[in-house]
Amino acid sequence: MSKEIVVSGIRSTGYLHLGNYFGAIQNYIKMQEDYNCYFFVADYHSLTTHPNPKDLKANVFRVLAENIASGLDPNKVALYAQSDVPGIPELFLLLNMIVYKGELEKVPTFKDKVRLQPDNVNAGLLTYPVLMAADILIHRALKVPVGKDQEQHLEMARNFAQRFNNRYGEFFPEPQVFRFNNDTVKIMSLDGIGKMSKSENVNATIYLSDEDDVIRKKIMKAKTDGGPTEPNMEMPDFIQNLFLLLELTATPETTASFRAAYANCNIRYGDMKKQLAEDMVNFVRPIREKAAELQKDETLLRKILKEGAEKANESAAKTISGARKLVGVDYY
Ligand code: TYM
Repeated sequence: MSKEIVVSGIRSTGYLHLGNYFGAIQNYIKMQEDYNCYFFVADYHSLTTHPNPKDLKANVFRVLAENIASGLDPNKVALYAQSDVPGIPELFLLLNMIVYKGELEKVPTFKDKVRLQPDNVNAGLLTYPVLMAADILIHRALKVPVGKDQEQHLEMARNFAQRFNNRYGEFFPEPQVFRFNNDTVKIMSLDGIGKMSKSENVNATIYLSDEDDVIRKKIMKAKTDGGPTEPNMEMPDFIQNLFLLLELTATPETTASFRAAYANCNIRYGDMKKQLAEDMVNFVRPIREKAAELQKDETLLRKILKEGAEKANESAAKTISGARKLVGVDYY
């Protein structure tokens, strides 16, 4: 039986953090054995914020290195740069003809960006979800492992696929968010304001490249409160987030003992943070060290990108040929 097709991407806009790891990369690693996986660095998507051209390559190579250092095996998956697959912008163009300006203007992530960068509301920001749909549909993927923040983009990709099929004939499957245990993860920023992100709340975000002491400092500064005042009290979201991080990095016994302390109102957040800091340091250190080593070997990273692009282009060519035929732009 042929394996189900999986696609996912990470923008090369900055340093990868725990949200990227637990929301996405961890699932990539689990999926690489049993699925036909296409994972890519979304370098075109990063251009919406006009990064310095000189920084682009280092950013792409770092994202690549951090994925591999986390456990992604380029021999098992296609690992490539979005801009190395010309079929993606071609499909993007075809999809743009059946997507409406009005529906794109309503997308919450677009509205956020308009607020964040009012002087640079470029068309790429508006059509971001269409390019993302093209990334996924180019391999006719069924499953897309992403964090909670991308769910709406996935819904749009399904709509566009359906619309294409209705207009031109059944061709694209409708891609679904993939989650293990029926759970999409959202890692909050340590200051309790919004999600961890590559460019905001830098001091409250733990990056896979953070040094041990930086990690300790950030965790010790994480937002807490006066503690529970009655047994089994509901946790505020920023405390839930600390427990989630503990669960993801510490032993089950450690987490259970702090949970019990919370339920009994005798938790000491200082102790919990110290424990979390050590577990986090032990978690991040091997990834950081391996990624740094990999980044020194540009020849290897280039080879990986090239081989990944070959695999991705083979699959993309089939989809483009089918899509062109259906749309009617095939003359030979
Ligand atoms: P990006 O680069 O912002 O994030 C990459 C992945 O990390 C997840 N993520 C999080 N998960 C949990 N908690 C957080 N705080 C957190 N922050 C980020 C994201 O959900 C994502 O899975 N538009 C995408 C990139 C993209 C893409 C695609 C993804 C482009 N084309 C096609 C899937 C399929 C993005 O900006 O992700």
